[in-house]
Amino acid sequence: MPVVICVGGQWGDEGKGKVVDLLAETAAMVVRSQGGNNAGHTVVVGEREYRFNLIPAGILHPKTTCIIGNGVVLDPRVLLSEIEALEAAGADLANLVISERAHMIMPYHPVLDRLEEQARGDDRLGTTYRGVGPAYSDKVRRIGFRVGDLQKLRFLEKKLEFVLPLKNDILGKLYGAPPFEVAAILEEYTGYARRLERFIQDTFPLTHGALARGEEVVLEGAQGTMLDLDLGTYPYVTSSYPSAGGCLAGSGIGPRHVRQTLGVYKAYTTRVGYGPFPTELTDGLGDRLREVGHEYGTTTGRPRRVGWFDAAVARYSVALNGIDAVALTKLDVLDDLETIRICTGYRSKGQAHDHPMANISHLKHCEPQYEDLPGWRASTAGARRYQDLPPAARAYVERLEALLQAPVTHISVGAARDQTIIRAGGR
Ligand code: IMP
Ligand code: MG
Repeated sequence: MPVVICVGGQWGDEGKGKVVDLLAETAAMVVRSQGGNNAGHTVVVGEREYRFNLIPAGILHPKTTCIIGNGVVLDPRVLLSEIEALEAAGADLANLVISERAHMIMPYHPVLDRLEEQARGDDRLGTTYRGVGPAYSDKVRRIGFRVGDLQKLRFLEKKLEFVLPLKNDILGKLYGAPPFEVAAILEEYTGYARRLERFIQDTFPLTHGALARGEEVVLEGAQGTMLDLDLGTYPYVTSSYPSAGGCLAGSGIGPRHVRQTLGVYKAYTTRVGYGPFPTELTDGLGDRLREVGHEYGTTTGRPRRVGWFDAAVARYSVALNGIDAVALTKLDVLDDLETIRICTGYRSKGQAHDHPMANISHLKHCEPQYEDLPGWRASTAGARRYQDLPPAARAYVERLEALLQAPVTHISVGAARDQTIIRAGGR
């Protein structure tokens, strides 16, 4: 069973990029399964920092095939600039493959994303304005454009002639915005077709060939479980399925092949955008953690909201994804704290809850129940083995394991590849 699913257990930005880069070392293939360039990964190799929005984090390993899977919505313009930047930095993109079934972000999608957010006023979601929600909406409405359409330009043109009037109607009548023209989009996307041709493939034989040979395949989720369209804090979610099920659907692989579902969790919690966040720290301590942890969005540069580890959220996402191993990241960010809090559940309307409620108004106004643990007040950045961690840091990790009912197999104590502790059970 060669598949390892790597999912975010919180609200995204858990550090999946670093973990996937680590897993990719021994994997034949990495498949990015959903999301678009709303996501952002940072991978540090030596002195170099690489940023990815669409390209799987495994690309830095020359022998690993990296697939942009069928569940992704990709903006060809953004992908091309990412390809250029990576090639300029010396990365080899010969192993990049794009599924012909992946959908494309069209020029009107980011425009509509912004207009729809403006229309929501105070109830806006805080999207990344990358057009991801509108592109997925069109996919569901069956008026989306797929990467494979780039290989059938006559078909693309015909579809544009049908879809663009629908879009222009909304743009003009609802928002008073200027229309898009078929000829201009056709020309732009014909250019993309030429430049992306070498990457576009039917990925089915590749993924299932690798599985048949027993090779290891890593499924790279983007965002996190609490941003899942079904399971997260709707409507303050993204428009795809960042959970383990979404990874399978988004890469065309069945559960039979899954050996492990690795959940990635930050040692505290962050969230970008609006929506309930029970353990949020709005005081100076939150500001301090934001600075120490460099908690600014990779994609938009927005400051992230910061809070304590929420074990009610984490237990929920462990269960929903079937997570059987946990990678805990950024433990070093907590090094200076005197006391560290863990939320174990909530009280809302006189009742106790051990997992996030679907009613987001209740979740927003609930009282988190905390347990306090002593901090370790020592640097963990140099720890390479579990025994190198101060006893209080180990106690924190072990308390999380007990609350999550899952073993912590990887602990990250810094951005560098070697700042990773791999415990028994980890690979
Ligand atoms: P959208 O995905 O751009 O539609 O944004 C919807 C919500 O998901 C917003 O709160 C975003 O900040 C959040 N979001 C989308 N992608 C990411 C991500 O990769 N990391 C963290 N938050 C994200
Ligand atoms: Mg990110």
